[in-house]
Amino acid sequence: MKTKITEMLGIKYPIICGGMLWLAVPQLAAAISNAGGLGNITAGNYNNGEELREAIRQTRRLTDQPFGVNITLLPSFRIAPETYDDYFRVCCEEKVAAIEVSGSPARKYLDQVQQAGIKIFHKVGSVRHAKKIEELGYHGVFAAGIEEGGHPLNDDVSTMVLLPRIVDSVQIAVVATGGIADGRGLAAALALGAEGVMMATRFINTQECLAHDRIKQEFIKRQETDTTLICKSLNLQGRALKNRLAKTVLESEARGAGPEEIFPLLSGQRAKEAWITGDIDNAAFMIGQSVGLIHDVPTCQELLERMVGEAREILRSRSALFN
Ligand SMILES: Cc1cc2nc3c(=O)[nH]c(=O)nc-3n(C[C@H](O)[C@H](O)[C@H](O)COP(=O)(O)O)c2cc1C
Repeated sequence: MKTKITEMLGIKYPIICGGMLWLAVPQLAAAISNAGGLGNITAGNYNNGEELREAIRQTRRLTDQPFGVNITLLPSFRIAPETYDDYFRVCCEEKVAAIEVSGSPARKYLDQVQQAGIKIFHKVGSVRHAKKIEELGYHGVFAAGIEEGGHPLNDDVSTMVLLPRIVDSVQIAVVATGGIADGRGLAAALALGAEGVMMATRFINTQECLAHDRIKQEFIKRQETDTTLICKSLNLQGRALKNRLAKTVLESEARGAGPEEIFPLLSGQRAKEAWITGDIDNAAFMIGQSVGLIHDVPTCQELLERMVGEAREILRSRSALFN
């Protein structure tokens, strides 16, 4: 396949893994890159720049293909502001292929990143943010609809509408994310003008993801109706699997609880442990509606080959409708 994104990043397929706290680590990143996509290492997994450097080097030992790093610029209890400077410095020194920024724009780091020859993208949930990112000089945007896992923008616009609106509004590369998990999603995104897709939830249910098998089996059982938006009342909405913890958070919000009561429930440590132990009820799993499209646990290679094969077949057979 050849799109602006495959050309820009030197990858075989325009399929990118999004940042995933605790899960986007070298083993998964390398598997995705080896399969022809763009793997991701999430900087927030690491306490400082040197730990991130070690993860980048570990990934390089597992693949000679390009991969990216996610840097989430949101206020954090765990990550000190200076640590973000270190994350960007290390990415530039190590010359990773791409940086995915989310949260605040990476204004102060853009020159440094451009000079290092790294492609930089920002995850956005609105046309106004996409335009701002283009103006700042980024190489592209990841257009993230309300379906996505993680923290969708509270404009609440679906990928189906957001993507073509952003494609029509900027000249830089646009990648679709939120709700994509198979070849149909890839074909639809390409039809709507995207240069590629980013997925996260789908990559959890792969052989190479460290999540416990109990969680992967649970995701196979769950439907598209099984996520909910938590923390809307705190102005930091997040999409999470419906489970006991999400219910507790929503009940606390309903009786007016503040961040001091809610944030400890969402502690990173709790989620980190739960992914590994398979404790499905006591942590926030920030996954997307695309969980409803997951039915198996393939290898990354199988997943990407299948998606691209399906998309090719759909686009080919659908064009016959016009004959
Ligand atoms: C478990 C999980 C953790 C995530 N953590 C982050 C994160 O730390 N930073 C970020 O920018 N996005 C994060 N995201 C959002 C993804 O990068 C991506 O935008 C989104 O999940 C795409 O939608 P999908 O889940 O339907 O594929 C996370 C998503 C998941 C599923």
